[in-house]
Amino acid sequence: MKVVDSPGKSKGKNAEEPSLEQDGQTPGVRKEIIKKFPVSPNLQNYESEYASFDWQDARKELTWFTGSKLNAAYNAVDRHMHDGKRNKVALYAIDAKNNLEKFTFQDIYEESNRMANALKELGVKKGDRVFVFLPRVPELYISTVAIAKVGAIAGPLFSAFGPDALRDRLQDSGAIVIITNPELKPKIDGIMHDLPDLQYTIVVDGDKSKLKDREYAYDDLVSKQSDKFECERTDVEDPLYLLYTSGTTGKPKGVVHVHNDIIGHHMTSKWVLDLKDDDVYWCTADPGWVTGTVYGIFGPWSNGASVVSYEGRFDADSWYKVIDRLKVTVWYTAPTALRMLMKAGDDVVFRNSLESLRHILSVGEPLNPEVVRWGMKVYGLPIHDNWWQTETGMQLIANIPCMSVKPGSMGKPLPGVYAAVVDDDGEEVEAGKLGRLVVKPGWPSMLRRIWRNKEKFDEYFKIPGWYFSGDNAWKDEDGYFWFVGRADDVINTAGHRVGPFEVESALVEHEAVAEAGVIGKPDKERGEIIKAFVVLANGFSASDELLESIREHTKRQLAAHAYPREIEVKDSLPKTRSGKIMRRLLKAWELGLPTGDTSSLEDD
Ligand code: PRX
Repeated sequence: MKVVDSPGKSKGKNAEEPSLEQDGQTPGVRKEIIKKFPVSPNLQNYESEYASFDWQDARKELTWFTGSKLNAAYNAVDRHMHDGKRNKVALYAIDAKNNLEKFTFQDIYEESNRMANALKELGVKKGDRVFVFLPRVPELYISTVAIAKVGAIAGPLFSAFGPDALRDRLQDSGAIVIITNPELKPKIDGIMHDLPDLQYTIVVDGDKSKLKDREYAYDDLVSKQSDKFECERTDVEDPLYLLYTSGTTGKPKGVVHVHNDIIGHHMTSKWVLDLKDDDVYWCTADPGWVTGTVYGIFGPWSNGASVVSYEGRFDADSWYKVIDRLKVTVWYTAPTALRMLMKAGDDVVFRNSLESLRHILSVGEPLNPEVVRWGMKVYGLPIHDNWWQTETGMQLIANIPCMSVKPGSMGKPLPGVYAAVVDDDGEEVEAGKLGRLVVKPGWPSMLRRIWRNKEKFDEYFKIPGWYFSGDNAWKDEDGYFWFVGRADDVINTAGHRVGPFEVESALVEHEAVAEAGVIGKPDKERGEIIKAFVVLANGFSASDELLESIREHTKRQLAAHAYPREIEVKDSLPKTRSGKIMRRLLKAWELGLPTGDTSSLEDD
């Protein structure tokens, strides 16, 4: 490994000691700050930008159609046909067998035009829902852009979803087209009878002889199309994508985002990801989740950055080899991945070069300070934590490159964003005090609706004047925000947001499970793991085989990441008078905390 002497890039055994400084104001580990960023950042002065920035100013960064019409896909791809980036690599796609394919912006432009024409030919129109159920292959990126060009609504689906998770999303959204591949298609075929709205299935790399009525091979459909397409002149408030996410109760909710979001995608990719013209950028999140859609496609492409897509599975050495092979400069990943990399050890880091890296970011779950310290040691760079949600549609709080990083903190609100910690009446609490993490509505990519569920949408605004995130946090005297936990029962396992109700529903589908209550149990590596408490149906008794069969059933039906790693059999579960399982009490049992006066918890 080559050790270079520029401060940001030195790493390995010869690397300089992390430059940790003490701010002397806050106690313990929170005194640490890391002042270090290897290049001149796009956002140079946080304080002055925060004081003066207005979202109106950002509008000029985008390309508009006459009449204030804005299309996110046009901004992500088409406009680069006229700004000198036509022949720049837009996508480096490494497949599961490690083959590399490169697509320039012109390639993506033409391919997405063909796909947009194909969708039109099928009758897809503005507002229709078109879902994408694919692994990280180029067609996923091309299709998402094409759907937006038509003005239809893109529905990203994580490839690990099972039939139950798919049915919930496709049924609720009324999707009319699904784009998938031969490996994933059987999951859709198995639930087709429950999806009356679904008209067409498009299969990437499918065996044509196996296709039935209203099923098309992707290549057949697109190859005959023109590579010219007039992007739909969408209104800023026309929906762009619909992404389902989990809450504490009920099935997943469809969060509606609009074309106006691209303003936020663009500015945050510029400020927080700090993307510049010569960057090769890798977002490890799957586009089936919000990070992969926003910061794996729209944000970086709007800035004309070269994006890396890696279809392979996680493995420390393979990941580092991706960085070295493509000379990745900016790397956006997640705490669980970083903890797994830390566990894999320093040797594997030093066997690779990684000298191209200049900026590392993390999102999705709390990032432990020790991981940030380890990152300083082995990568020679601070890891920049940032906070946002499916609903917020863009990063809102971040350790922005021009600021010092405080390990363990999510950073400060971005220019144009007013975040606060408040009590239940919406009053701001003083620095250092725990409260609800809220944001003043007005940023460009705030959720616009919950699909067919106004009541749920209104819940986000139940604290008057604020958008309520569902998270608890505190703010320090320097204005940095610190995550404390969820205010509800939502589980965050390895950065995946999982609703307990979905897991409970999948569990009780198993013939041996009469009742189930599900909680998140703290875990060193994954943040939380899913733990289920179950009451068995009459005639069943607990055995390792039975518990394994329950686990397997949940994994198959719901999702590979959303099954309970631990199952505990109980004779009964604590319930409210109206029969709701009291997850709070289950959690107290698990953590050995006092359960208090349980009689008072019996009311809803
Ligand atoms: O609880 C917070 C946690 O992830 C939730 C949002 O999950 P999701 O909608 O799936 O979006 C994840 C990626 C944008 C939040 O309510 N979360 C997100 N970022 C952080 C975090 N928890 C701690 N630290 C973070 N930086």
